[in-house]
This record gives sequence, structure tokens and C-alpha cells, in this order.
Amino acid sequence: MPRLTITNLPEHVAIVMDGNSRWAKQHGLPRFEGHWAGAKNVRHVVEVFADYKIGYLTLFAFSTENWSRPKSEVRGLLRVFREMIDSELKLLHERGIRLRHLGVIHRLPLDLRRRVEGATELTKRNTGMTLSIAFDYGGRTEITDAVRRLLANGVTLEKINELSLKEYLYAPEIPDPDLIIRTGGDMRLSNFFLWQAAYSELYFTDALWPGFDRAEIEKALVAYASRQRHFGRR
Ligand code: IPE
Ligand code: IPE
Ligand code: MG
Repeated sequence: MPRLTITNLPEHVAIVMDGNSRWAKQHGLPRFEGHWAGAKNVRHVVEVFADYKIGYLTLFAFSTENWSRPKSEVRGLLRVFREMIDSELKLLHERGIRLRHLGVIHRLPLDLRRRVEGATELTKRNTGMTLSIAFDYGGRTEITDAVRRLLANGVTLEKINELSLKEYLYAPEIPDPDLIIRTGGDMRLSNFFLWQAAYSELYFTDALWPGFDRAEIEKALVAYASRQRHFGRR
């Protein structure tokens, strides 16, 4: 049950889950412990948003630029993602959550790719929240690939417009995020949802991702509820 009555809730919330490494440092732990703590927090965060009946939740877990991190950290992040699917899938499915992956699936190791595809397939008829995991996701790659596929499909110059291009993005059926939250205090998108963020409300919090809890989520939802959106109109 939600604790607060909030009118004007967003339909789609997207989160840049940042601050794992600083969290680990603050706790005197190695970096990878920060990533595990961050992964553990995903379950709680999903529960809170499900309580508030948020229709779409997107979590940015790994960017196209994150491949440039040290090999051992990249390996660790892939392992975290793999174990998360293994440990959480059953529960998510039981709760009626529909899972989606956003990003360049073919660069993932084959076993991980199979898990992601299996999770998507298993949950595709669920009617609860749509939970999208952006892993190996970059906004520029998404748009560039959309243009390439559009041309490969023979779409002619006259037929290229905002609506037809959008159809070639990773998840055209998902509405643009109403609210984008970034934890960890930095005020930037880091290549996230460049197309979809056109009219999103942005919310930045100093809370580090592993410590982003119910109270922090409620603060973000309350802040969103008071925003006036214009979409360029008056
Ligand atoms: C976010 O944590 C997780 C990923 C980007 C994969 P970071 O590792 O970026 O943590 P900070 O921002 O350095 O604290
Ligand atoms: C953004 O965090 C990407 C994710 C949270 C997955 P980063 O830590 O990679 O972003 P920068 O490098 O600080 O911009
Ligand atoms: Mg970071």
C-alpha cells in the first residue's frame, strides 16, 4: 500500500542508478560491493513504484560508455546482471511484471543474452508494471541504429519524420518518461534517453543508488506532482 496520497503521479519513471562506487567508498568497501548493494536495492525500488501503481519503470544499469571501465569491473557488472535475472525473475513474474531490455543485446555474452531473451519471453503477457532494464544502452547508438534500420527497410525520404523514426527505437510502444531521476548528485543524462527525454521532468538527488529508499522515492514523486508541464504550449 502506498503511504502517501499523491495526485498527479507519473506514468513512466526512468532512473539513472548512479553512485554505487561512492557508496562503497563511504562504507570502506571495494567497488564491486557497491554494485551488489545497488543490485539488491532494485527489488525494493520496484516494490515501491509498484505500490504507487506506476505503469512503466526504466532502470539505466549499464551505458555503452561503461564498456570502457576496467575489465574486472565490467565482468563484475555482467555477473551482477546475470545473478539478478536468476534471483529475481520468478518473483517479478509472479507479481505480473513485464520485463523489457533496452540496448544492444548482441554485444552481451551469449548466456546473458539467452537469459534476457528468456525473461522477456516469459513475462511478455503480464499486465502489471513494465520494467525495462537499459543495459548496454546509449541514446546516440539507439538513434543511429534507428536511422540505419529505417533506411535498410527502404523508408523513403518523404516518409522519414518524428513518428516513423520513433518506430525504430528500442521500445516504441513505451510512452516517453514523465520523470527522469538521477541518483548520486550529478546533473547530467550521460547518454540516457536522448530522444525520449525531450519533455521529461528531471529530478536529481544526492542520495547514492544503494541508499535510494522509499522516503527518497516519495520525495521525488511529491516533487514531480508539483511540477507544471507545458510541452511548449500555454
Ligand atoms: C553506477 O555506479 C553504476 C554504473 C554506472 C554501472 P558508479 O560505479 O558509476 O558509481 P559512482 O558514480 O562512481 O559513485
Ligand atoms: C551513468 O553513470 C550510467 C549508469 C548509471 C548506468 P556513469 O557513472 O557511467 O556516468 P558518468 O560517467 O558519471 O557520466
Ligand atoms: Mg557514476
